Amino acid sequence: MPLEYRLSSARSLALQIFGCTLVLLAAPFTFAQQTSSAKPPDDQEVRRRADALLKQMTLEEKVAQLSQMFDLPPQEPVEDAAAKGKLGSVLFVTDPARINHFQHLAMDHSRLHIPLIFGYDVIHGFRTIFPVPIAMAASWDPALVTKAQSIAAQEANAVGIKWAFAPMLDIARDPRWGRIVEGAGEDPYLGSAIAAAQVRGFQGDYIGSPDHILACMKHFAGYGAAQGGRDYDESYIPDTLLNNVYLPPFHAAVKAGVGSAMSAYMDLNDVPATGNRWLLHDVLREQWNFTGFVVSDANAVKSLATHGYAKDLSDAAKIALNAGVNMEMSLGPNAYSQNLLQLVQSGQVTAEQIEDAARPILEAKIRMGLFEHPYVDEAGAQQILAAPEHRTASRLAAERTAVLLRNEGSLLPLNKTAYKKIAVLGPIADSQLDTDGPWALEQDTKETVTLLAGIRGKLGSNAEVSYAPGVQIKRKFPSIFDPIFHFENPPAWTPEQAKDEISKAAGLASSSDLAILVLGEAQNMIGEAASSDSLDLPGREEELLEAVAATGKPIVLLLMNGRPLNIQWAARHVPAILEVWYPGTHGGNAVANLLFGDAVPGGKLPFTWPRHVGQVPMIYSHNTTQAPKDQAKRYWAEESTPLFPFGYGLSYSTFQFSNLKLSRGQIKSGETIDVTVDLENTGNSAADEVAQLYIHQQYGSTSRPVRELKGFERVSLAPHEKKTLHFPLGKDELTYWSSAKKAWVEEPSTFDIWLGPDSTATLHSTFTVTP
Ligand code: NOJ
Repeated sequence: MPLEYRLSSARSLALQIFGCTLVLLAAPFTFAQQTSSAKPPDDQEVRRRADALLKQMTLEEKVAQLSQMFDLPPQEPVEDAAAKGKLGSVLFVTDPARINHFQHLAMDHSRLHIPLIFGYDVIHGFRTIFPVPIAMAASWDPALVTKAQSIAAQEANAVGIKWAFAPMLDIARDPRWGRIVEGAGEDPYLGSAIAAAQVRGFQGDYIGSPDHILACMKHFAGYGAAQGGRDYDESYIPDTLLNNVYLPPFHAAVKAGVGSAMSAYMDLNDVPATGNRWLLHDVLREQWNFTGFVVSDANAVKSLATHGYAKDLSDAAKIALNAGVNMEMSLGPNAYSQNLLQLVQSGQVTAEQIEDAARPILEAKIRMGLFEHPYVDEAGAQQILAAPEHRTASRLAAERTAVLLRNEGSLLPLNKTAYKKIAVLGPIADSQLDTDGPWALEQDTKETVTLLAGIRGKLGSNAEVSYAPGVQIKRKFPSIFDPIFHFENPPAWTPEQAKDEISKAAGLASSSDLAILVLGEAQNMIGEAASSDSLDLPGREEELLEAVAATGKPIVLLLMNGRPLNIQWAARHVPAILEVWYPGTHGGNAVANLLFGDAVPGGKLPFTWPRHVGQVPMIYSHNTTQAPKDQAKRYWAEESTPLFPFGYGLSYSTFQFSNLKLSRGQIKSGETIDVTVDLENTGNSAADEVAQLYIHQQYGSTSRPVRELKGFERVSLAPHEKKTLHFPLGKDELTYWSSAKKAWVEEPSTFDIWLGPDSTATLHSTFTVTP
């Protein structure tokens, strides 16, 4: 029996709780179609308008702009604050009627009629759910990422949400950390490309582009380096890793014009990120010229006291404001609204500081067109949310994100007519909620196509497809998402039942021509506050896998997860393994297309896949030391190498890289060379390959990683088609932060260069850089 749970989305929750409020709202009020500006607003004009407004505002009104509250139970405080004009923003309200209700409170009850801006965690889709972010990174396809986030933006905008708390740009090198699923993996170069692509997707060509919303890069910064992979725990990051690894995706987002940033929860080198002036001011504003606004993570300002950094909430408000947090996000009343006025009166904070904090928030509201069009067209929203082309885009994305990890004897693609009886097995194979993955809150879950449904739909009457869960997965309790989701575990099986269910599943496999096993983690076993001390398949999934394999039937293993899992046994014994991640609304259709050859896998791993949890953190871009890892083992009983390298992924076709050429063998610092390589599809199916360029600086003022990704391109090739690819290599790629020189340097050195299908590429050349 599949896991059962009752999903109460934020939308229905709001409706339940606000039933009577909505009746009150039935009174007519005017709608204006919420549109933004058809051309980029003039920066000076925006500034002039914000300043003119600030001139009229009282200190209280300015402080109000700095306050953001959740519309989650208990909702009285947020209603009250909105009615009294004490809020600048509300988050977690998704019902357009309720958005209009809040907006009316703000517009009608406040002296200067300043609209609220509504924010939400639009992470990988809104109504249409796209594959989870780690999967989108596995596409190595920035254009796809932009497209997906622009659809998410369009849907969110349709209900009145003007601000996404995304993209999450935290580099994650420890898969025990559950939030690895929300980012782009371990690599700063790939992470930066995906970061910029997401900003473009959310915001369009400029802040205020029609049908787009404001992006918020998060969590600034260093959250992914939490000690032991334990969510929220402190990070210790030396300057070399901060500058070369953790900060570049954020810098890329700033260069792409991101309009807001979220300060992180944790201590960075003992200074909480939300009270860290070096991060939020020196780096973000002074070095990078960021002109948007910073919002704290939820309750992170108040937490400065919990950290033992601020003396009390008043001190916390002062520290966060001084550090550069413009807006405080909070559940319930916040430290800013309760303390800033008093802090100004007592001279601990200046009125000018409050004004400076409010200005970029007002500017964002002006750019987003909220003053002209504060309300949302409630009826119009539904049409946009239902758009069939959004579902198609989500399916195509899921197809492009899958990573083929193993395909012995070319078991895949499956012949559509060869298997008359197919057993689909596994506890999440028919779970709609798990197919959507974590941070999917606003979908119509009933619409989601599970892997079982997709396979059945693809085969129709051509085959008999039977299903058994085989094992149960215990869902974690309690979860921080309990106010939104209510998971009800089905009654746990008795030990006898559990044994019987595994036998039943193996029996189904025995009496079938093929078994498709869907294993992985339930969606709430990963994500925020879902770190794991193990990478093993959860519960008794491994037992199920081995029991099914013992039947001797051909097996395909589909993995639904967001972190690398321990699949060492499977990697030796299961002929075909396809990583499908949490593939979203039409995930089942996408996976069926991939299984039966109507789509060809072309994704590549955005992280190094360790063999075992004991190896983590494990990255491809480690340094060479006196006994290189390929020559000497580090562990007594385990290899020092990963199960699958960074950038890895197979195809149904085969490819050949050849003819690696550099336009010059020697350049002066500051010059650029053109790297070219031929890529040929040597197989018989049209397919994609991701060409990856890696470099290694052989010597310099510090040791440099054995390899660093410095270029990539996903290329579609017809059978036997050959293309010459070009990669520029110059100052941007060769400059790094030298912890020895405490400076950004491009050093004279000899560089290795490799081009190929993953981080173990062998096609090699060298060049030198002279002063
Ligand atoms: C906490 C999370 O860390 C952050 O990513 C999210 O955007 C906020 N909550 C709002 O939900």
